Amino acid sequence: MTAILGIESTAHTFGIGIVKNGKILANVRDMYSTENGGIIPTDAAKHHREISEKIYSEALEKSGIKEEEIDAIAFSQGPGLPPCLSEGIKFAKKTAEKLNVPLVPVNHCIAHLEIGKITGAKNPVMLYASGANTQIIAYESGKYRIFGETLDLGVGNFIDTFAREMKIGFPGGPKIQKLAEGSRNYIELPYVVKGMDISLSGILTNLKQKFQSKKYSIEDLAYSLQETVFAMLVETTERAIAHTGKKELLLGGGVSCNGRLQEMCKKMCSERDIKLFVPENSVLVDNGAMIAFLGEIMFKVGIKFSKNKFDEIEIKPRQRTDEVEVKWKKN
Ligand code: ATP
Ligand code: FE2
Repeated sequence: MTAILGIESTAHTFGIGIVKNGKILANVRDMYSTENGGIIPTDAAKHHREISEKIYSEALEKSGIKEEEIDAIAFSQGPGLPPCLSEGIKFAKKTAEKLNVPLVPVNHCIAHLEIGKITGAKNPVMLYASGANTQIIAYESGKYRIFGETLDLGVGNFIDTFAREMKIGFPGGPKIQKLAEGSRNYIELPYVVKGMDISLSGILTNLKQKFQSKKYSIEDLAYSLQETVFAMLVETTERAIAHTGKKELLLGGGVSCNGRLQEMCKKMCSERDIKLFVPENSVLVDNGAMIAFLGEIMFKVGIKFSKNKFDEIEIKPRQRTDEVEVKWKKN
């Protein structure tokens, strides 16, 4: 029996999850937010510092297990915003010292993928579409590799920026989805796919110009944004599926909560006769449970740092998915 506590702090969410033998016992989170949605890293870090003890107590209480039963502390080592990651590692080290347990440093993006196992996915291609990240990831030859990604903005940040322009609030994703449901009128937008990569900055400029011209309704713009950008995501994902020959698609990241994106993925998967896995929203967005979940897998194969090695562990704000040595998987 192993019980792992996982800490997530890469961006605006501070979350703590507790996982025991692959089962999520608690998943508590709190999100730093601002009026206009722009993230000030040092303010987000302050939020994490102030909320950490409260989230920790709540997670323990929800899990029904005692502090003494925790076998290790896993935490998001990167990629992410340095001040936010620093708060996470500080809290992780402090707690691990207090409980006298080892630390397990976890890659945030891979955690998004591994948690998909909870839904039954075994060897998927993952479309990871969140605020800062948009990547198509799959396991091949001993590593998790990025087959395609955005060349500029993350799709969530792109949506949030346009929502801010339209002054409809933050986070923009759910609001754009709601507006889009009120239209079926497609306005032509640039469509930018380069192989398995996408680019969003030109589309953002184009959308802003259309909005400022006052010639289009916000519903039509929201609808056209979703239809265009999600088609780009689905096209590149489909290409990665064809390239790798995998038979499963897994969704991850906050943007994957979007019903229209899910519908488009479902259609593509049924046309290709492959399986689609969509985890619950609470594990799609940034959360501590996925960190604990991957932490447990790593801990079980002996990837851990004991107290005398804590000084060697640092945050990795720019850690790339394919830098991580995946010692826990047998090929
Ligand atoms: P990271 O990029 O580090 O993984 P993040 O904190 O920016 O992290 P998430 O918590 O995974 O990302 O997702 C937040 C993003 O998801 C926001 O940009 C938000 O607008 C978007 N989002 C949430 N719900 C929806 C939705 N229904 N449709 C589209 N986008 C959505
Ligand atoms: Fe994330």
